[in-house]
Amino acid sequence: MRMRHKKHGEKRIAACAELRLIPTEGQPVHPVSFFPAEKPVALEIGCGKGDFAIGMAKAHPEQNWIAMERVPDVACLALEKAMATRADRPDNLRFLIGNAQNLSLFFLPHSFAEIYLNFSDPWPKSGYAKRRLTHSNFLALYRELLIPGGILKLKTDNVDLFEFSLEEFEKNGLELLRSTRDLHAEEWARDNVMTEYEQRFSELGQPIHSAWVRFPAETNGDEHEN
Ligand SMILES: C[S@@+](CC[C@H](N)C(=O)[O-])C[C@H]1O[C@@H](n2cnc3c(N)ncnc32)[C@H](O)[C@@H]1O
Repeated sequence: MRMRHKKHGEKRIAACAELRLIPTEGQPVHPVSFFPAEKPVALEIGCGKGDFAIGMAKAHPEQNWIAMERVPDVACLALEKAMATRADRPDNLRFLIGNAQNLSLFFLPHSFAEIYLNFSDPWPKSGYAKRRLTHSNFLALYRELLIPGGILKLKTDNVDLFEFSLEEFEKNGLELLRSTRDLHAEEWARDNVMTEYEQRFSELGQPIHSAWVRFPAETNGDEHEN
């Protein structure tokens, strides 16, 4: 997402301090400590301008939500939108400005019930495959951060990224719970909350691809003993 540098960006972000989560790098904590109520925490990586996280936090008050964005000027827009709508939902949404590759410096293992990847950058050149947020290296990170049985949910317009992701899921032994090449035609997606990119692509008539995968609970091998 390209964007002109926001004038007074730092001041504007500071004005949204109550919705900003600032972890201490190298001192990982459980994310629930940033919320007033103890509820399972969902994480969106690459939240862009925040529509999805804001919509989900309102639709799912039974969960706490963290929306992460790497680009401060983009996060600023999401924060401002969330500030303007904060009376519409419980106090269950926080924004984290940072890069997903540093997540384990911020959060303890087994921190999240769900992780959402919405319209992640596809990095089409094969030399950049490791930057794709569904690359095996990232899946290993999510495995550590999710609770046992936790779920990763992906939406994308990009067929190549979708196919790459399905291959990576299979390679890593993840259980495919749902998979569709036309999300908006699915009965189970009736309550789908759209992202900014999703809105734009669907208006152009492009189908949305989506997959949900479960990370199996780690076993200690006892079930094989007898
Ligand atoms: C194509 S945009 C999609 C935005 C939004 N999810 C949507 O669907 O409208 C991808 C976003 O992910 C952010 N992003 C990409 N890689 C990231 C990373 N490693 N950590 C955090 N954010 C990232 C980008 O800055 C960008 O805002």
